[in-house]
Amino acid sequence: MMIQANGCPFHRKPAAAPPKQGEQTPQQPVDSLDPAGLSDKLNNPKAALIPCPWWRTVINEDLVKVDTDGNVSMNDLRHALKATGVTFGLRETAILGVKRVAAQLAGQATGGISGFMNAMCMDRINVLDLPKSSLIHTGASGTLRNGFNQENLERLLSFSSDGQRITANDLADANKKQVEADPGESGRKFGIAEYSILLNIFGRKNEDGQKYLTKEDLTRVFKNNEFPENWEKPKVGFINLGKSILGMFERQKEETK
Ligand code: HEM
Repeated sequence: MMIQANGCPFHRKPAAAPPKQGEQTPQQPVDSLDPAGLSDKLNNPKAALIPCPWWRTVINEDLVKVDTDGNVSMNDLRHALKATGVTFGLRETAILGVKRVAAQLAGQATGGISGFMNAMCMDRINVLDLPKSSLIHTGASGTLRNGFNQENLERLLSFSSDGQRITANDLADANKKQVEADPGESGRKFGIAEYSILLNIFGRKNEDGQKYLTKEDLTRVFKNNEFPENWEKPKVGFINLGKSILGMFERQKEETK
């Protein structure tokens, strides 16, 4: 791993403290929290705090319609997943999971059969409420927690082992360090799943067919909320996602860190 301008890779500063769950009021000027201007686009300052790079990108790239309250229909979500390459089985499974989150956010996840039925009937999710969702976990990069954070983006980019590309191993290493700094099993599981799908959707293929992101690609997605330049729609299903998740878990077991 290269020594980076911000110091020794083994003594990096941990990600800035994540906000407490449910904190939603921007604490800094919105411009720095929201370089892509999502809050102007949605006419709501809470848009600066959407914590997911995929959601920010599909909103900015007009792949979904967000109503004035922040709701996106499950149908729009389905189209956006399809447009970003997520294939049928994975897409429909993701939608079932999102319906459960949507029910939790709407206060309708009451448990039991009726709670389950409420979740299955959810036809929208409020993306402005995502910071309050049960998907918030330990060990995130902190790049989009409580708004965009340049320092945490740079910290994530510094895991590039060749100084140019971010590979699956680099992301596994980043997740490992993040979870060490902010422990919790959900940080490992959710964090690896998120980094795997990020790489599969937005990544390019190298000569050996392995996915990677350039530093610029990752910056475009997290900061500018745009697709990487010359992005081509991939095919992302259970098999390729599962392979990269397993690969990242294996990498973390290595004793070399
Ligand atoms: C399918 C495409 C998706 C991709 C590629 C993706 C990617 C990611 C990545 C890489 C992160 C981690 C950010 C970080 O550590 O800084 C993240 C965070 C998050 N994502 Fe997504 N995501 C996707 C879909 C979704 C969906 C459908 C939802 C929910 C409806 C969602 C909700 C979240 C939330 C709440 C976080 C914040 C987690 C935290 O900060 O603890 N994502 N996503």
